[in-house]
Amino acid sequence: MEIVLAKRAGFCFGVKRATQMAFEAADKGGATFTLGPIIHSPQVVQKLEGMGVKVLKTLENLNDGTIIIRSHGVTSEELEEAARKELEIVDATCPFVKKAQEHVKRLSQTGYDVVVVGDADHPEVQGIVSYAEGKVFVVGSWEEAARLPKMKKVGIVAQTTQSFENLKHVVLECLMKGGEIRVFNTICDATAVRQEEAKSLAREVDCMVVIGGYNSANTKRLAEVCTELQPRTHQIETAQELDPAWFVGVNRVGVTAGASTPKWLIDEVIDRIAALDVEKKD
Ligand code: F3S
Repeated sequence: MEIVLAKRAGFCFGVKRATQMAFEAADKGGATFTLGPIIHSPQVVQKLEGMGVKVLKTLENLNDGTIIIRSHGVTSEELEEAARKELEIVDATCPFVKKAQEHVKRLSQTGYDVVVVGDADHPEVQGIVSYAEGKVFVVGSWEEAARLPKMKKVGIVAQTTQSFENLKHVVLECLMKGGEIRVFNTICDATAVRQEEAKSLAREVDCMVVIGGYNSANTKRLAEVCTELQPRTHQIETAQELDPAWFVGVNRVGVTAGASTPKWLIDEVIDRIAALDVEKKD
């Protein structure tokens, strides 16, 4: 069985940067925390926990120490609270997420109602939305955009992991709502590139394995686009979840991984698939 790994599988620029910053902060010692998981990889979070980095839900009871801000950002209120408490802040927010936050702030300061295209429950979106100083709406689809009120000036940004198609359809809907429209395509290249590569790989193989956290939006989307082209697509977090039955009659298996999946997990999965193949032949 041939195993084909997508070229750009795994860590994107922002996650790599955040993970490095977190491990460096952990190495320094002292009380170190992250507000929510640093990246959407339970395995990386576990490693950091082993080095003494604790995950907090809120800053409420924290008055001292180092706080690492995760790659997909936090709300402006949380950042202000950390500064007010004079915590040492290691801001690992991905620069692309920061850009979306800044656009929202500037748009609302200049009189635009803001539309954020994304998943309202996702912490990245909640962070982006918190920078609005006026009206702000979150829409996940063009159907939701169709229900928006009429607006004079509309500013649109997207969650970094959104698909271009979805943004395009929401923009079309908004064209019917407002007089003046400004659109910032804040979709991150890393996501699009991974999706395109995964799509072409899914077309060429008999089975696809997508590795990444079940809480990772970009991994979930990667698995979705692969499933559309290759029904034998399976999302896993670790090699232990691989099921030999998935590979029956498979000649080529494609492997890709979400932007928050570390290389060591990808290597373990590839090794395990290869081992299963050997077992099959024995
Ligand atoms: Fe940043 Fe894009 Fe990664 S927004 S965290 S480089 S997926």
